[in-house]
Amino acid sequence: MHVIMSSIRALFSAPFYGLIHRDFHQLVATMPLTDKILFLIMHSVDKLGKWHRLPVFLGLIYLAIRRTLQQTYNLINVGPTPVGISFNPVDYPYRTSDGKFNDPFNEVAGSQGSFFGRNLQPVHQNDKLMKPDPVVVATKLLARTEFKDTGKQFNMIAVSWIQFMIHDWVDHLEDTQQIELIAPSEVASEYQCPLKSFKFYKTKEVPTDVNGIDIGHFNIRTSWWDGSAIYGSNKNTLLKVRTYKNGKLKISEDSGLLPLDEDGVVVSGDVRNSWAGVSVLQALFVKEHNAVCDALKREYGDLNDEDLYRHARLVTSAVIAKVHTIDWTVELLKTDTLLAAMRANWYGLLGKKFKDAFGHVGGAILGGLVGLPSPQNHGVPYSLTEEFTSVYRMHALLPDNLLLRDISAAPGPNKLPPLDEEVPMAEMIGLRGERETRLLQIGFEKQMVSMGYQPSGALELFNYPKFLRDLIPQDIDGKERTDHVDLAALEIYRDRERKVARYNEFRRGLMLIPITNWEDLTDDAEAIKTLREVYGDNVEDLDLLVGIMAEKKIPGFAISETAFHIFTVMATRRLEADRFFTSYFNKETYTKKGLEWVNTTENMKDVLQRHHPEMLTTWMNSSSVFTVWDSPPPSHNPVPLYLRFPN
Ligand code: HEM
Repeated sequence: MHVIMSSIRALFSAPFYGLIHRDFHQLVATMPLTDKILFLIMHSVDKLGKWHRLPVFLGLIYLAIRRTLQQTYNLINVGPTPVGISFNPVDYPYRTSDGKFNDPFNEVAGSQGSFFGRNLQPVHQNDKLMKPDPVVVATKLLARTEFKDTGKQFNMIAVSWIQFMIHDWVDHLEDTQQIELIAPSEVASEYQCPLKSFKFYKTKEVPTDVNGIDIGHFNIRTSWWDGSAIYGSNKNTLLKVRTYKNGKLKISEDSGLLPLDEDGVVVSGDVRNSWAGVSVLQALFVKEHNAVCDALKREYGDLNDEDLYRHARLVTSAVIAKVHTIDWTVELLKTDTLLAAMRANWYGLLGKKFKDAFGHVGGAILGGLVGLPSPQNHGVPYSLTEEFTSVYRMHALLPDNLLLRDISAAPGPNKLPPLDEEVPMAEMIGLRGERETRLLQIGFEKQMVSMGYQPSGALELFNYPKFLRDLIPQDIDGKERTDHVDLAALEIYRDRERKVARYNEFRRGLMLIPITNWEDLTDDAEAIKTLREVYGDNVEDLDLLVGIMAEKKIPGFAISETAFHIFTVMATRRLEADRFFTSYFNKETYTKKGLEWVNTTENMKDVLQRHHPEMLTTWMNSSSVFTVWDSPPPSHNPVPLYLRFPN
């Protein structure tokens, strides 16, 4: 009987599986019927390779299906999963210094020193850590041959912004054991390879004490979107940055920049491997925090220092999350579908006007993630993931020189200020650039305007900045190490060491159709030739970072589609799993004034407008702070957003 039933089932399922790429048969076989149907719809669109060409409302449906499936199949816990309520959330109506006590079922979720989660199963590659040699990969495929930029799409403020976010989200704990990478003779000439060899610390491996994934890595930043780049990820750092007067944080009144400590290191929540561009953003959001404190003090005179600090931190973190969601990301993924999708993440499909008038109505899709009645972690405790870290390896966004503009001159066409000087990026980083003299000489406004006018590097092969291939890395306290690193080669090694799947397996894991040859990946003949030189014809060996740089981009996207689908699930998760963006996003927790502050701040322009209004009026021509500032504002499109067809 069993055999007969199996044969009947096989007969009916054969045509179904015939529609599906063979690499997914095993996964689909484990899916319940609804997921099978959703998968078939998504996969059929993927086979045509054109979801981004669909009208906006159909594109949104595709993304919603993909997100639903990825929430089921691409969230993997690392470490123990506690059961039962561990504290009463009412006792913690604020963001703690180390990120604990956000999730009532798991007080350590997302806190400093908790495990990175995973989107895909780890792929052990101990026997392939050096295959192909990371220095060869970096030198032949990543190293910049000629600077490629993103045109008007994305500027250096946008680049600094994402580093500012990385310094809020992720940093791996290191071991005390060092490793050395030596450049093989085929690439060791000084011209090709700035370092003949370099040493760095292994990523610390920590037993998870559970079956399945038995080794994990710790995140030494809090994984919540809690502004830890300005507040720090623990009590000690918080102690350093607070004034303990009226809730405020320290800032230099003279320069409007971050203050320096006795060692010349900036006083801020995160000071590691940073530069002047990030430093000005940290300073700006300290000013924002302090302005919130002033507004709350005016409104509620009886709030003490601690209350003011707590409310202002909630508000400032939410402003940062909002700017990232509906301003920065919209410029990164510049299509109507993503404009609609990102706004829907914050406001829901019903839109801002509706939400302002009636509050959060409906679930995540209609009402948005922010303000959901309860947080949602899909049964997997919140963390950021290894794969999330890997796809954010975006060092190619950085140019080799910063173009400083003369803001004492008169504005030129489209408000463009004349060029003043070209400064090597190497001078703008570390103790020298960010801290002691360089940024102090330049000043906040000149740094910001200059970054506004400079396009970012493009996330492509052969575009990894030279200055990062001979870099002085820092300890967590900002102190410089003696061993320089080749960051490009190190990044290749890191992904392998952390068992992140290589490119093709990564795509399969995300339910994306794998490539079968180099021509599936790119049209660039030079790239294909070099890929063959380094990897032969073995597309399975292709490193993730190389793959996402090489991949043909969706028009309007500054990143690869493969990287984007990690964001599809993780950008949502950062909001929906956090109590302070969902059930506690209310006037009781934020105060009425505080909530109003978040709800009336729409973008980075609003933030800069508050603190540097003349700078924007004089120098900014574009509509978004994150596009090159002499771009014209976009022309009006009379077609309602959801009904538009992509250009
Ligand atoms: C001048 C600017 C920058 C410098 C000096 C810098 C330097 C570094 C260094 C030294 C590391 C640690 C490497 C290791 O030991 O594994 C690192 C990691 C990283 N950087 Fe950057 N970086 C810069 C800008 C950026 C930007 C613009 C991004 C864009 C998203 C970025 C994303 C990352 C990520 C995702 C990691 C991995 C973090 C982890 O391992 O947890 N960085 N960077």
